[in-house]
Amino acid sequence: MALLDILQYPDPRLHKVAKPVAAVDERVRTIVADMFETMYAAKGVGLAATQVDIHERIIVVDTSEQRDQPMVLINPEIVRRSTDCKEWEEGCLSLPGIYDKVTRPDTIVVRALDARGEAFEIEADGLLSVCVQHEMDHLEGKVFVDHLSALKRNRIKSRMRKRQREVQPA
Ligand code: NI
Repeated sequence: MALLDILQYPDPRLHKVAKPVAAVDERVRTIVADMFETMYAAKGVGLAATQVDIHERIIVVDTSEQRDQPMVLINPEIVRRSTDCKEWEEGCLSLPGIYDKVTRPDTIVVRALDARGEAFEIEADGLLSVCVQHEMDHLEGKVFVDHLSALKRNRIKSRMRKRQREVQPA
């Protein structure tokens, strides 16, 4: 297993659209294992392959308190979403320290493949629902700040750029 580098906003690679996984094989299972290791090390509740510069439709999540309920979703698809929406304060490993409110459908039904390539379906609400929708956005090249106003987003962009200049002086 290996820790992967997490792309930091506004890295343009975060806006690439991920391709479907053709076959769930050992190569994909290695990516999944590395993504879990990276997510747990960064204390995140979810990670999309896009964030580690792998542009394939893979997400890993664990919203449990004990950090012992890993779930991988390969080629996830939302088959149903509630008309009821909820506002949550979201954060992202690609934007450490940045949090803002995003409104999304409350409940979703997602179909995906697991690490053995078997299809499954889950109904998610609460944090898991938010997390899966947030990670699925990443696969579309979308970061949660893309849901905010341009004004807010630009402010966050300059904050991130300023921080990156301080961390890695040219
Ligand atoms: Ni994120």
